[in-house]
Amino acid sequence: MADLSTVFTGLKFENPFLLSSAPPTESDANIMRAFEAGWAGVVTKTIGLHPVVNVKGPKTKFLRAENSAYNMSMNKRQNSTLVASWNWELISDKPIDWWIGRLSKVKKAYPKKMLVASIMAGSGNDKELNNWQTLTKACQDEGVDALELNFSCPHMDRVDMGSNVGKNKVLCSVVTQAVKEVAKIPVWVKLTPATADIAEEAAASFRGGADAISSSNTFPSLPLIDPNTLDFEMSVDGLVSSGGLGGPAILPLSLHKMSQMTRAFADKEFSGIGGIATFDHALCYFLLGCGTVQVCTAAMLDQAIGPNVIKALIAGMNEFMERRSFSHLEDFRGLRRDRVVSHSQIKRPEQFDYRGGYESEEQEGYARPQPVLAKS
Ligand SMILES: Cc1cc2nc3c(=O)[nH]c(=O)nc-3n(C[C@H](O)[C@H](O)[C@H](O)COP(=O)(O)O)c2cc1C
Repeated sequence: MADLSTVFTGLKFENPFLLSSAPPTESDANIMRAFEAGWAGVVTKTIGLHPVVNVKGPKTKFLRAENSAYNMSMNKRQNSTLVASWNWELISDKPIDWWIGRLSKVKKAYPKKMLVASIMAGSGNDKELNNWQTLTKACQDEGVDALELNFSCPHMDRVDMGSNVGKNKVLCSVVTQAVKEVAKIPVWVKLTPATADIAEEAAASFRGGADAISSSNTFPSLPLIDPNTLDFEMSVDGLVSSGGLGGPAILPLSLHKMSQMTRAFADKEFSGIGGIATFDHALCYFLLGCGTVQVCTAAMLDQAIGPNVIKALIAGMNEFMERRSFSHLEDFRGLRRDRVVSHSQIKRPEQFDYRGGYESEEQEGYARPQPVLAKS
């Protein structure tokens, strides 16, 4: 068996696979089931200080495409394939007091597993910055191994919370710095993918003292409109608001975001998230330079905490490392990071290959080859 263990932000993980902050990690019972199933670590559902009330009705649904057609819908049906999850769930609806005692209980029961507390507060004034510090101290007193700062929840109305922090470079630095002032454990920052160049917010977070960046959270998005009822497939009293897209659809998008950061900061640490269901998906993030990866949607659809997903991730990594004779993740981490270059660096065909916009051979999605007309 290959050695799957890895050290990330100074912490030893038995394998590089974590459950991300989401419903799979919303309770101590779930987290302990996840550890039993084989996950090396979890990031708790985001913990805040204020009470949270979610919308009426479902908080998450899954968009599936018919296997033989383009039709996409959130109506669960046979012969369809998962495209994405869509959610408008807020942070943990359990207050910090509920988590106190439970975090320490989990850590005591599973001392070798890594317990990361995701936290969130506002950032508009000193009182709010103090709230970040209160959360930091409360969680680290419970014995958690690291913190993940949620600068990425896409559906917060407050301009000083969630992805609105991740969109503001000054706030990224200021909040990270406030947390670092009192943190004795590693601090990860989870950035929103909803900015032009995420490397800029990563730079700001590193300036504030971040030990690692996690990405992606879900992408801002809307549910589709049902062509028969003309209602959004998810709504309350006919109304919808922006929510977050996760799952297979965001894998290539998240890889792009991750690549922007790992190329800019080759010597920093990154945790990859977005669309991971198999080891092949996780491998893409490792090859771009990530030291750990996190999973949400695939785990939600596999008995809520992903026992089969983690089994397949571990088996896939073992098989890959044995086949390639790799001893550690470090042997292949970042191997393809520098293969992502600017468009102008990609080779052009020789002059005589140019066919006026038509391809020389039939290519999916392009016009058929045209005979080259002789000049009159
Ligand atoms: C229902 C739901 C709730 C989520 N809640 C949180 C949260 O509280 N904090 C957080 O940082 N991310 C949250 N996320 C984002 C996930 O942790 C993850 O970043 C995202 O779903 C992308 O990963 P995936 O493609 O594996 O689903 C949530 C995602 C879903 C689907």
